[in-house]
Amino acid sequence: SQTVARDAEGVVTVGGVDVKSLAAEFGTPAYVMDEADFRARARAWRDAFGGDADVYYAGKAFLSKAVVRWLHEEGLNVDVCSSGELNVALAAGMPAERIALHGNNKSVRELEQAVKAGVGHIVVDSYQEIERLAAIAGAQGVRQPVLIRITVGVEAHTHEFIATAHEDQKFGLSLNGGAAAEAVRRVLAHPESLELRGIHSHIGSQIFDFAGFEVAARRVVGLLAEIRDEHGVELPEIDLGGGLGIAYTSEDDPRSPAEIAASLAEIVRRECAAAELTAPRLSVEPGRAIVGPTAFTLYEVGTVKPLEALRTYVSVDGGMSDNIRTALYDAEYSVALVSRTSDAAPMLVRVVGKHCESGDIVVRDAFLPADLAPGDLIAVPATGAYCRSMASNYNHALRPPVLAVREGAAREIVRRETEEDLLRLDIG
Ligand code: LLP
Repeated sequence: SQTVARDAEGVVTVGGVDVKSLAAEFGTPAYVMDEADFRARARAWRDAFGGDADVYYAGKAFLSKAVVRWLHEEGLNVDVCSSGELNVALAAGMPAERIALHGNNKSVRELEQAVKAGVGHIVVDSYQEIERLAAIAGAQGVRQPVLIRITVGVEAHTHEFIATAHEDQKFGLSLNGGAAAEAVRRVLAHPESLELRGIHSHIGSQIFDFAGFEVAARRVVGLLAEIRDEHGVELPEIDLGGGLGIAYTSEDDPRSPAEIAASLAEIVRRECAAAELTAPRLSVEPGRAIVGPTAFTLYEVGTVKPLEALRTYVSVDGGMSDNIRTALYDAEYSVALVSRTSDAAPMLVRVVGKHCESGDIVVRDAFLPADLAPGDLIAVPATGAYCRSMASNYNHALRPPVLAVREGAAREIVRRETEEDLLRLDIG
């Protein structure tokens, strides 16, 4: 659904706008987001489940008011995990009941704000939080819907830092040893202030192997059956989280939302039939799979430094401050020359930033034309997720803008930071 092409001069265009005009008008580096592609992906997720499930877009991947409005218009909900993200969703007009709140250490203030706003559900993550939330909802005279986040004990095949369902990590309440069952008892002990709607599991991120979701669904449904047997209630909802992988390079082969929806629905249906449970409503929380492929980062080449017999270092005007994923997770990206075509032979390059450390790498290994020169524009695709949202001001870098392009028009949906923005925080 992407609208990327090359014009007659060989300049790449997206959404009908060429990258040279984007660079001239908004500067570089910039995240360039294809609005039509974003909407199409959001719609594909919603349609894939055909009204049988709720799709919560995971705001941590990237959140802004424009994006929330698109999601609202396309019929999706939003998952937030801080009061900051909640504020963006509310400010953009997302109805509170279509917002879910996550987090392993939500503050009292965050819980109070969420209950007061009337968020659809809060995913509780510890015994202490259950008591905290019961007190807050009770004080506000509210019966707050909650899901309990459980740890299903799945080793997801992804980077250690983004795997979340194995035992030895901070999220969720474990099925092993009965912490999840105990959390259920504790929530049910507050019938006046907490409404237990269901069980939540998120096994990790950038996952291609579906086996983990199978196991997670089976164990979540197993818990629902135990809850029925112990408490005589059938919970109406399960949430299997997000985590579906996207293609960062041509080696990744992601599945479509329709395939994913069909598999998940089938697994849940089968497991519920086996346990003689009425199938609960399903929800999912894709972040990366919706926004990741919809944006690229546009950089200007500053210096080109050949290291004899090794590779050529191509330095761009951004780096680990706008994309920490390569340094943090060994993430792989591709890169392309986008401001012109070239017939020059390919050369092995490493695309690096301008920050003061050697780990400041954007693309570890790639090929670019050997006549690459300062002033050329290059683009790193698939940077829509976890790049702007994890951007930093390291070396007092100004965080880049997010541009939305659509039908021949471009606008900033998040503006570039300015020196004044940063200096204003420094009160001397
Ligand atoms: N639901 C929950 C409860 C989550 O914790 C996450 C991601 C998601 C949904 C969305 O996962 P997605 O569909 O986007 O994979 N910064 C890392 C990813 C961290 C993911 C954290 N949780 C990265 O850049 O790869």
